[in-house]
Amino acid sequence: MRANLTVLHHHVFLGLILGGCIPKDTTPTDDSGTDDSGSDDTGTLERRCDEHPELSVDEGMDAEDQTRMVCMEKTDECPEAADVNGWELVQGVMGSEPVDGGCSTWNGTVQCGPEALEVDRCCYIVDVTVDWCDIGRPFTVQGKARRSAVRETDRWTESVHIQLDLGPDLRSRLADYWTRMALAEHASVASFARFQLQLLELAAPPELCAAATRAMGDEIRHARDSFAIASVFHGHQVGPGPLSSEGALSGNDPLLDAFLEGCIGETIAAAQASAAAQACTEPNIRLVLERIADDEARHASLAWRFANWMLAEHPEAKPRLQAALNAFQLGEAPEKDPDADILRRYGRLPASEMHEVAVQALSEVIRPAGAQLLSMTVRKPRAPAISDA
Ligand SMILES: [Fe+2]
Ligand SMILES: [Fe+2]
Repeated sequence: MRANLTVLHHHVFLGLILGGCIPKDTTPTDDSGTDDSGSDDTGTLERRCDEHPELSVDEGMDAEDQTRMVCMEKTDECPEAADVNGWELVQGVMGSEPVDGGCSTWNGTVQCGPEALEVDRCCYIVDVTVDWCDIGRPFTVQGKARRSAVRETDRWTESVHIQLDLGPDLRSRLADYWTRMALAEHASVASFARFQLQLLELAAPPELCAAATRAMGDEIRHARDSFAIASVFHGHQVGPGPLSSEGALSGNDPLLDAFLEGCIGETIAAAQASAAAQACTEPNIRLVLERIADDEARHASLAWRFANWMLAEHPEAKPRLQAALNAFQLGEAPEKDPDADILRRYGRLPASEMHEVAVQALSEVIRPAGAQLLSMTVRKPRAPAISDA
């Protein structure tokens, strides 16, 4: 699949041309340590971590967002928690197959361990998560994407006509996909609401504040459209439950968040939505995807303008952004989907094609734009003289 990136390219580079705190240089806190270590040299085994049930593949999706003990085979000494890769650890139990037959995968953040009670295995206490690969800007709190749960309600939906010609399995897959899309769009509203508060706190120019407000409205529209489509596949009306904002305003780095979620995330999202629209043959879904693609390109442009403005204010942040750009990698390409043709028709681009488009967006738009952003000599705009005002 070849994505048309011309419009996106235009949006992103225009954002850079038009653009111009870092809050304190916050070093991420490492909370993966083992400060409650119960190690001793008396030969007595003690529990090092709080007790949690062990992760089991039988739990399936119920394991998402749970804290679990996760174990791996002991080959030598058990490494300290800080040296354990949570992604590999959780996938060792849950498998590396995509969670939903799509491109989402299991992940985890190691909190504590090794658990001294386990003599034959290396066990750790892990916050188990799923890295959802849906289109849109995540609402990340302390490193975890937060979304509300779905519930039956007609408050977020309008009627939409979609011609269904599907067996129950594919209908169920599309219901799940569009529900996740809708919940992700709903979470993007919270992400922009927080961004707006951060802009005000940073004394950002009104142009950026106005663009953030417009983006929040766009995301509400995306969420409503996506819930309406999801409701058709479900056969009943669905919408969002409550979305907690607890902790959302503390410990954030607005520049790094905007760079990862906006410059990278929404640029990829815009390219994927555009490719999904091109491949979609159901007219009302195609219209929604075209609108999402246009809006996400504008949101990506806003993120690049914001990053440009922040670097003008705080050029010392450049190495942090450079490191984030260098470190960003896409995972392995997922397997081809045997139902790809039918999924495409209803706006769900198969995972392998989503991945292909993301690779193109990364190499053809994000890395060149990032290089330009980081090489620009940014100057703080001169404050206007009183007589100019
Ligand atoms: Fe969106
Ligand atoms: Fe967006």
